[in-house]
Amino acid sequence: MIETDVLVIGSGPAGGGAALALATLGVDHVVITKYRWTANTPRAHITNQRTMEIFRDLGIEEDVLAQGTPHELMGDTVFCTSLAGDEIGRVRTWETDPARESDYLLASPSPNCDIPQTFLEPIIIGHAASRGSRIRFDTEYVGLVQDADGVTVTARDRATGQEFPIRAKYVLGADGGRSQVAADVGLPFEGRMDLAGSMNIVFHADLSHLVAHRPSVLYWVLQPGADIGGIGLGLVRMVRPWNEWLIVWGYDISLPPPEVDDEMATRIVHELVGDPTVPVTIRSISLWGNNKMYATRYRAGRVFCMGDAVHRHPPSNGLGSNTSIQDAYNLAWKLALVLRGTAGEALLDTFDAERAPVGRQIVLRANKSIEEFGPIFEALGLIGQSDPELMRRHIAARAENTPEAARQREALRKALELKNYEFNAHGVELGQRYASTAVVPDGTPEPEYTRDPELYHHPTTWPGARLPHVWLGRDGRRVSTHDLAGKGRFCLLTGISGEPWAEAAAKVAQELDVEIAAHVIGPGREHIDLYEDWARAREVCEDGCVLVRPDLHVAWRCADLAADPAAQLRRVLGAVLARD
Ligand code: FDA
Repeated sequence: MIETDVLVIGSGPAGGGAALALATLGVDHVVITKYRWTANTPRAHITNQRTMEIFRDLGIEEDVLAQGTPHELMGDTVFCTSLAGDEIGRVRTWETDPARESDYLLASPSPNCDIPQTFLEPIIIGHAASRGSRIRFDTEYVGLVQDADGVTVTARDRATGQEFPIRAKYVLGADGGRSQVAADVGLPFEGRMDLAGSMNIVFHADLSHLVAHRPSVLYWVLQPGADIGGIGLGLVRMVRPWNEWLIVWGYDISLPPPEVDDEMATRIVHELVGDPTVPVTIRSISLWGNNKMYATRYRAGRVFCMGDAVHRHPPSNGLGSNTSIQDAYNLAWKLALVLRGTAGEALLDTFDAERAPVGRQIVLRANKSIEEFGPIFEALGLIGQSDPELMRRHIAARAENTPEAARQREALRKALELKNYEFNAHGVELGQRYASTAVVPDGTPEPEYTRDPELYHHPTTWPGARLPHVWLGRDGRRVSTHDLAGKGRFCLLTGISGEPWAEAAAKVAQELDVEIAAHVIGPGREHIDLYEDWARAREVCEDGCVLVRPDLHVAWRCADLAADPAAQLRRVLGAVLARD
């Protein structure tokens, strides 16, 4: 019988991310996954800064950037009647608005990028395997039984049909939006599945002449009267600039699923491109449902679910794969410490406590972003209309010199502005603040948001928040505060007058058998505060300290030097690690 500490079910962003993090931390694990290889369609692509920071910590950021499309080419999100037709409006997106660029540059050492899932998953899985993941493709999860010491999973080899058991101390259900694992362990869900139907059409076509002058990953096409789907909203999405594409097109889910052959798919492509002479090669066609559903608990005994298994939502905001990877990163270090005996079992409960609110937030955000297309339709006079010709006339009417058209133009401007909540939601992407027993309050109230919390990131060292990034200096070179933290260790940051914190950290680390990288930042030390940015960002005095968890979230901070720093760190780490 195969025996392992952790069995990961699924090799998508959640399962692959878990495998990579576990392998990097040296945790014995096995991955089983249903198909013969990784994702076969380029679904996820927007990879946000938080995920890139995780990749930086796990040592794959450069590989991802090398295969990704840089954010400079991601940003002129266009709304039009077809790629060759009338341009209705443009929104600067994904860090390309000069007015927003500094927010992103200041917030993180890592740029966002666009990398299709078909390119990302092999990087993640390749590195995981090279670091020790045992990955079994063509192997399907069938069922599980839990007992006090572990979980016995029945798996099926899809090549032979043979079933066999795998024994694990813990199981991670990362088996996607139709998760059998989540169903089998009875996770509670809120919301509904399959609210609307969508089809993906992947195709090759050189569209440079229509898009290269307004580079973007997303071209939204409003096409009243298109004969598949109700509202006539389609998305032409760049997979590779500018010759590989994915069209997302809605269909009426209350009707039987449409049977789309290559001929019909080519017709849809030509309609959205607006030029029937463009040569098109259809690569694949698939159907999927839009969901609004999230689990309120991610753990059942020794089984943890993550990714789409527990949060199911439309692709708006590009949060699915990102959140799945972030789930995995949150749990991996906790499992590593519990399996080593350094932390108590209760540390694993904090996965639920920290990630379930994020899952709920992104499901609601992504669905709201869909609703926020409504004002665009309204401004264009498309709501309540069924006559395509009339709808086309309403769209065209915005060019007229009449008071109604002026009102229409103003309404459209406002409606397009609302899309910032989908394409420039920096706060949603970076602003996660955890509350759980793995975060120790410092007695200060949660800092107020001074700007819109969804649009803007508010860096803070308040316990539970993500460690703020600033550039420090080491040997004259720039390194991020994030580079000092992570790597599976706790990290303590202090200033020269806080040196006793660093001495205490070394002592307590030995006592508790936990790694703490303690850094004194200041002149003459290994790291200097190059621009004095850390002094401005740390929100504690120079002799205070910020204790950071292995996942770069702040575990605790102390405003100034404590009378007995070792006693404080012992107390705090004892709580975080659930050692009592
Ligand atoms: P995912 O579904 O990817 O993987 C599930 C895994 O489980 C697979 O490896 C499968 O083989 C395996 N599996 C399933 N059943 C099994 C069984 N019984 N036994 C064994 N293995 C089993 N996200 C984002 O962050 N940015 C973006 O830009 C986009 N864009 C986007 C566009 C479109 C059109 C879609 C449809 C989706 C997106 N997404 C996205 C969402 C993203 O694709 C999605 O959230 C992630 O793939 C979820 O990752 P998971 O690993 O949770 O599930």
